[in-house]
Amino acid sequence: MKSYTIALVPGDGIGPAVVDAAWPVLERAASRRGFALAATRFPWSCAFYRETGKMMPVDGIDTLRGFDAIFLGAVGWPAEVPDAVSLHGLLLPIRKAFTQYANIRPHRLLPGVEGPLRKTSFDILCIRENTEGEYAGAGGRVHVGTPDEVAVETAIFTRHGVERILRFGFEQARTRSGRLASVTKSNAQKHSMVFWDEMTRALAKQYPDVEVTSYHIDAMAARMVSAPETLDVVVASNLFGDILTDLGAAIQGGLGFAASANINPERTAPSMFEPVHGSAPDIARLGIANPIATIWSGAMMLEHLGEREAAADVMRAIEATTARGIGAQPGRDKTDAIANAVLTALG
Ligand code: IPM
Ligand code: MN
Repeated sequence: MKSYTIALVPGDGIGPAVVDAAWPVLERAASRRGFALAATRFPWSCAFYRETGKMMPVDGIDTLRGFDAIFLGAVGWPAEVPDAVSLHGLLLPIRKAFTQYANIRPHRLLPGVEGPLRKTSFDILCIRENTEGEYAGAGGRVHVGTPDEVAVETAIFTRHGVERILRFGFEQARTRSGRLASVTKSNAQKHSMVFWDEMTRALAKQYPDVEVTSYHIDAMAARMVSAPETLDVVVASNLFGDILTDLGAAIQGGLGFAASANINPERTAPSMFEPVHGSAPDIARLGIANPIATIWSGAMMLEHLGEREAAADVMRAIEATTARGIGAQPGRDKTDAIANAVLTALG
């Protein structure tokens, strides 16, 4: 039987709960379609940091490299480890080391889910640059703690990095409605964002079948609320994409529904699949985290592995579940009850 090796990194907060809830669904989806998922679990987290002084072992990246995919819950427990330490020690290095430059985040309403907008007919695919830009980590601080203190955080936009994410956006648009929105702030940021706009125009010539429109980030934020149905594929830099996808999560009914895939399109290293919501310390032990974002991320993993039928089965089971109202309202149903309903719908 065909089998895929999956590194499970449940992480912190609600991460373990949603991964444990989602995993049996993915295993069942696999076995129904005649393949297996072989999981290896890694305890890398803020608890691991307390014991070892590191978020993952020094050879953690090398260890993960051998897997077919990584399935991650959430990273961060700010009461004990500063976020800038935990995230730069685990999640962000994986995205960068494995060149997972395309962070794909779908935003649409599942059946039975009422978002905060009066509109229901939107289907947005956000594509967030995931390895450079405002998250490059370039910068430093001098004169620390004195009145002369200076903090510099330099965004890095390389031709290679911008071209590959835009190209990915154009390709995605081609497989959907043929419409691409490219997001910058080139009226204020005159170097990097003007460069991004120029690259967008240059690439557009190679994709005459794609209708591309450039938006400024502020206008895009407003449009996602007032006219989300006019959008299809949206491509943005790392930080802009981060912000827009929390907005996307909000209009789709909440972070409990927001899935994501950190993709290495050339498949030179494993890709990583994780819900957008993070560790949510406030609800960590209540058993009410919605596992749907994680299960949906798992469906994206199955799709990436080439198991399209199993991925479609999982999506159908999620939709059948929310259509019955289960997991459709934030905080109402228990994590396990929702996951069990999806499992039952899967058959
Ligand atoms: C996300 C998260 C992360 C990010 C944080 C936890 C560093 O907000 O995946 O959207 O900003 O990328
Ligand atoms: Mn975010």
